[in-house]
Amino acid sequence: MECLQTRKFPQLCYRKAGKGPAVMLVHGFPENCNLWHKIIPVLANSFTVLVPDLPGSGKSSFTGNLSIEDMAEGLNLILEQEQIEKVVLAGHSMGGYTALAFAELYGAKLKGLSLVHSQAAADTDEKKETRRKAIALIRKGGKDVFVRQMIPNLFSKAFKAAYPEVIAQQIDRGMQLSADSMVAFYNAMINRPDRISTLYSNINIPVQWIIGKEDTVAPPEKVAEQSNATNVSFVSVYKDSSHMSMIEQDKVLAEDLRSFMLYCFRN
Ligand code: MLT
Repeated sequence: MECLQTRKFPQLCYRKAGKGPAVMLVHGFPENCNLWHKIIPVLANSFTVLVPDLPGSGKSSFTGNLSIEDMAEGLNLILEQEQIEKVVLAGHSMGGYTALAFAELYGAKLKGLSLVHSQAAADTDEKKETRRKAIALIRKGGKDVFVRQMIPNLFSKAFKAAYPEVIAQQIDRGMQLSADSMVAFYNAMINRPDRISTLYSNINIPVQWIIGKEDTVAPPEKVAEQSNATNVSFVSVYKDSSHMSMIEQDKVLAEDLRSFMLYCFRN
């Protein structure tokens, strides 16, 4: 694991694998870089793969408040550290919200953007309210209860029934995140702006949309509609996935990411 230090990020750590053009895989909530462990070896055959722990996750930390834009700045610091000028960014869910902020702030560095079970709209008022209730529960010491409730809902019915042990592993991983980080991530997501206009105006690169048919966090209809906004869109709908195709259908996702990334560097 490589790490860099700044005042805002006392530790900002990432895994690095492979050789070739640079791609970066950004995890979501409540995850860390290990989310991508089945995807990294496939991509490392063709690319330099950078996989951060977002600030507050895994081995990375932050001081003060945390916004989605701060996290995008963290991704840029890693690219600067590695002296990488062009990258294809793939972000899962909250990682996709971060990748969209990156596109707004550092768009010239992007060769392509992959939104994996993610989308560009801000939280609805209802969603903000649900998050505030979760924050209250976490602050009252209910972090583990919250993680146990939320994680199973990220998987398809068939996957949950077939692989209860994988769900249990994911719950364990979610519980590793501190209560303070959970609250910071939820506040960052509540406060993020709508970035639909970013899709229309700021993005002239290919965009990949990975959609899970059973996903309730990034619902298929909503995401498919947003995919019309980008100039060059690659849309894949996984009928047997919900929100976690890097676990539910890892081989299919790895191959789709690889083909998309190769396309981005060829064009
Ligand atoms: C994630 O997977 O990153 C979260 O579920 C995103 C969200 O809560 O909006």
